[in-house]
Amino acid sequence: MKSVQWVKVTLCLILASLNVYLFVVSLGVKYPILVAREHVRFRQEMPTMDSWINSPFGKLKNYVFNVTNAEEFKSGRDKRLKVQEIGPITYRIVGFNDILERNATNVKYRKHRYRVVEFLPEESVSPDVLNWTITSTNNVMLGTASKLKATAPYSEIGFGAIFLMENMFITDTVYYFLWEFTRPLLNALSNVSKIKPNVAVLHNALKEKEEVYTVNIGPERGIENFFRIETLNDEVIIREQLPHTHRLYSDQCPYNVTGALDNSLFPPFVQPNTPLDIVAIESCRVLPLTYQRQERFNGLDTFRYTLLKANQTPPACLSTSYGIKLHDGMFDVSQCVINQAPSAFSMPHFYGSSYNWSEHFEGYTPNAEDHEPYILLEPVTGIPVTEKYRFQSNIPIPDLNGYSYRLRRFSNMMIPSFWYEFEMGQLPGFVTALMWINVNVVPHMQPYCMALFLVVALWSVLKAIRVACGGIGYKDLFRRGCCGDLSTVTGLETTFQANASSLVVVK
Ligand SMILES: *[C@@H]1O[C@H](CO)[C@@H](O)[C@H](O)[C@H]1NC(C)=O
Ligand SMILES: *[C@@H]1O[C@H](CO)[C@@H](O)[C@H](O)[C@H]1NC(C)=O
Ligand SMILES: *[C@@H]1O[C@H](CO)[C@@H](O)[C@H](O)[C@H]1NC(C)=O
Ligand SMILES: *[C@@H]1O[C@H](CO)[C@@H](O)[C@H](O)[C@H]1NC(C)=O
Ligand SMILES: *[C@@H]1O[C@H](CO)[C@@H](O)[C@H](O)[C@H]1NC(C)=O
Ligand SMILES: *[C@@H]1O[C@H](CO)[C@@H](O)[C@H](O)[C@H]1NC(C)=O
Ligand SMILES: *[C@@H]1O[C@H](CO)[C@@H](O)[C@H](O)[C@H]1NC(C)=O
Repeated sequence: MKSVQWVKVTLCLILASLNVYLFVVSLGVKYPILVAREHVRFRQEMPTMDSWINSPFGKLKNYVFNVTNAEEFKSGRDKRLKVQEIGPITYRIVGFNDILERNATNVKYRKHRYRVVEFLPEESVSPDVLNWTITSTNNVMLGTASKLKATAPYSEIGFGAIFLMENMFITDTVYYFLWEFTRPLLNALSNVSKIKPNVAVLHNALKEKEEVYTVNIGPERGIENFFRIETLNDEVIIREQLPHTHRLYSDQCPYNVTGALDNSLFPPFVQPNTPLDIVAIESCRVLPLTYQRQERFNGLDTFRYTLLKANQTPPACLSTSYGIKLHDGMFDVSQCVINQAPSAFSMPHFYGSSYNWSEHFEGYTPNAEDHEPYILLEPVTGIPVTEKYRFQSNIPIPDLNGYSYRLRRFSNMMIPSFWYEFEMGQLPGFVTALMWINVNVVPHMQPYCMALFLVVALWSVLKAIRVACGGIGYKDLFRRGCCGDLSTVTGLETTFQANASSLVVVK
C-alpha cells in the first residue's frame, strides 16, 4: 500500500475505535449526569465562568417614605403618620468574585458585591429624584431612644436634654437620607466613641463587607453538594454573630453557614424538597428558601422560592431587637447594622407581617406582586435566572412611657427607614442557550448519539477496508466480499505491493 493509503486506513480505524469506545461508555452513564459532573468541576474554561465572576449584577431599586402630615401629627391633630412612597431610586450594581484558591474539591473566593455602583437617572422615578425634598421621622433620635431604653435604665431623665436640639421630623433631600444622613449629636459622639456619624441607609448598606467563601466543587464532593459553603471568612459561624455565642446554644439560630449557598450558583438537579439556604450577608444570617411553585421564565421551567414566608415566626434568637418583641414576618438585624442600632427586617410595606401598621400609618400598600422577595431557579442546572431580593429596614420602638410627650407618640411603632429591591440582571444569551440545551436536549439525545456512534464506527471500518482495497465502492465490496480479486481494482496501481495477506495485518 502507498503511504497515503496507510494514513487513511489508520485514521479510519482510529475513528472507528473512538466511536466504539464512546458507544461502550454511553452504555454505562446518563448524559445529564455526565454534563453535571463536568459542570460541578467548575473549570476556569467553562463558558459560564465569566458571567459568574462578574456577579452579582443587576439593579438596586430603593424606596423611601415621605411623611406628608408632619405638622398635623406634631400638633396632635392626626393620630397616624401619612406616608407617601418615593422611588424607585435606581442604581446599577456589578459585583466581582475573585478566586483566591482552588483544587479538585474546593474553591475559595472573595466576593466584592458592590464593585460598580452607578446611579441610573432614567430608570429612577425621576432623573432629579436625588434632589427631591422629603420629610422623614428623625430616625437617629428614635433609634437612640429605643436603644437607650434597653441599655441605660433611667435614661429618660437625661434624654430630653440630649435631644432638645433635635426635631421629631427632618426635611432634606433624598440624597441626604440615602448617602449623607448625620446629626450634630452623632458627630459629637463619634469623636469620643466608636459611633459612626454617617447613618445614611445606602452609604451603610453598600459598604464592602468581608466575604471570603470556601465552597465545595467537583464530583468527589457529590453533585448535590456543589457550591455548598464550608466556611465564610474561615469561620462556620457568621462573624457578626460570633460575639453573641450565648445565642448559639439554640439550634434554631440561623448563623451556621455549613451547607448554605451564596446565592450565585446552586447544585444541579434540585427537587422541590431539596434543602436550600442562602447566606443573607446584609442581615448576617442564613435564610432558608421556601419552595412555592413552578414558574415559566424566558422559555425555561423554573422553581420559585420565597425568602420570607408570610407571618413566619422569627427564629428564637432573632425574635427580639433590644428586648422589643418583634412581630411575625420580621427578624432582628441589629447586630449587623451601623452602630448596632435597633432594627428589624420585614418584607416591604410590612407585607406578610402580623404588625397592624394601620394603627400607626396610612399609605402602605402591601401586596405579593410588588413586595414578596423571590428567586427563580432553573432546577436542572442549579442556575438562578432571576431574583427580586427585597427587604425593608425598620426601627422598632419600645413603649416610651416616661419619655417626653413628643417621643411617647411613637411608642410601639415600627418605623421604616427604607426598602430596597435587588433585581438580578438578565443572564447573557449564550448562558441561557446553554441552559436550554442542558434542559431540553441533553436528556433526550442519548439514544440518537449512541446510534450515531455505531453508524460512524461501521462506516469507518468499511471505509478502511475500501481504502485498503484501493478505493473500491460499496457495490464492489459487497459483490466480491472483502477484496476478492485485487488485480482488477489495482490494475492502475503499478507499484501496488499488498495482497490479501497484508490486509489481514492492517485489520
Ligand atoms: C413630601 O411631602 C411634603 C409635605 O406634604 C411635600 O411638600 C413634598 O413635596 C413631598 N415631597 C415629594 C418629593 O413629593
Ligand atoms: C482543597 O483545599 C481545601 C482547603 O482549601 C482542603 O481542605 C482540601 O483538603 C483540598 N483538597 C485537595 C484534594 O487537595
Ligand atoms: C441637584 O442639585 C445640585 C445643587 O443643588 C445641582 O448641582 C445638581 O445639578 C442637581 N441635580 C439634578 C439632577 O437636578
Ligand atoms: C469632632 O472632631 C473634629 C476633628 O477631629 C472636629 O472638627 C469637630 O468639630 C468635632 N465635632 C464635635 C461635634 O465636637
Ligand atoms: C454547623 O453545622 C454543621 C452541619 O450541620 C455541624 O456539623 C457543625 O457542628 C455546626 N457548627 C457549629 C459551630 O455549630
Ligand atoms: C388594625 O388597626 C386598625 C386601626 O386602628 C383597626 O381598625 C383594626 O381593627 C386593626 N386590625 C386588627 C386585626 O387588629
Ligand atoms: C501475495 O500473497 C501470496 C500468498 O497468498 C504470496 O505468495 C505473494 O508473494 C504475495 N504477494 C505480495 C506482492 O506480497
